[in-house]
Amino acid sequence: MNKNVLDQAIDYLEYSKNLSGEYLFFETKPISAQLAADIPQLLTNQEVPTLPIKKEEIAETKTTAPPTVPHPSSLHYEESVDPTWKDSQTLPELKQKIQNCVRCPLGATRTKFVFGEGNPNADIMVIGEAPGADEDAQGMPFVGRAGQLLTKILESVGFSREDVFIGNINKYRPPANRRPTNEEVAACEPYLIKQIEIIKPKFILALGLTAADTLFKKSHKMGDIRGKLFSYNGIQTMVTYHPAALLRNPAWKKPVWEDVQLLRKLYDDYLSNNK
Ligand code: URA
Repeated sequence: MNKNVLDQAIDYLEYSKNLSGEYLFFETKPISAQLAADIPQLLTNQEVPTLPIKKEEIAETKTTAPPTVPHPSSLHYEESVDPTWKDSQTLPELKQKIQNCVRCPLGATRTKFVFGEGNPNADIMVIGEAPGADEDAQGMPFVGRAGQLLTKILESVGFSREDVFIGNINKYRPPANRRPTNEEVAACEPYLIKQIEIIKPKFILALGLTAADTLFKKSHKMGDIRGKLFSYNGIQTMVTYHPAALLRNPAWKKPVWEDVQLLRKLYDDYLSNNK
């Protein structure tokens, strides 16, 4: 049964409450005509389909103990990365081969290498910018305030962190959370490309302009690209605001809600066409 406008409004308020902890943000502007047209279809199924993930795969990803590695600050690039890293067949192999990289200066200042985590066979890959202080301390992506918001955004459309693979353009934290420089991005991007090659996602959710500009090799304005579908080497790619930006500007929560709902719909369509 389709939901009526009131039910949709309640859903949105619930999403908004989950993201901010209280009913803080409510905008009266109607949702876009495209989304309004899509929502009834999206809501036809009461049950959100689960992703085709094998439980053992999740358990394996979660329980792999991170190897203890020395800080790479005293290494030279040649000795910091296994020269065979491009031949890696699995994520653990790739991680092991590149985790000491000092190709860019961030190798000297980082605490932990943040490779990314989640389902190694994910249909959806979420790509952020670079680790912040919490991620640098814990070695895991999106675990600070922005990360907790990301988790809630994913959950609002029925995805858990374990369903998807969450990674970043840069694997090391830029000091003081500045944006990574072009050189730092260029040094680290090949590792992301290799991750994408191994995971083979069907969809990418790019968070923020660093992710979008890096993937598409062009400077963008968020307003021009969010909520649309692009092809990144044949992978359907959606760009939306970075969760850290939502912490600064809660009015962007609504466009993000629209974007992730559209992604959910596209993914459901993909699942029903590939049964
Ligand atoms: N911001 C990012 O872009 N990535 C993280 O892992 C954390 C915050």
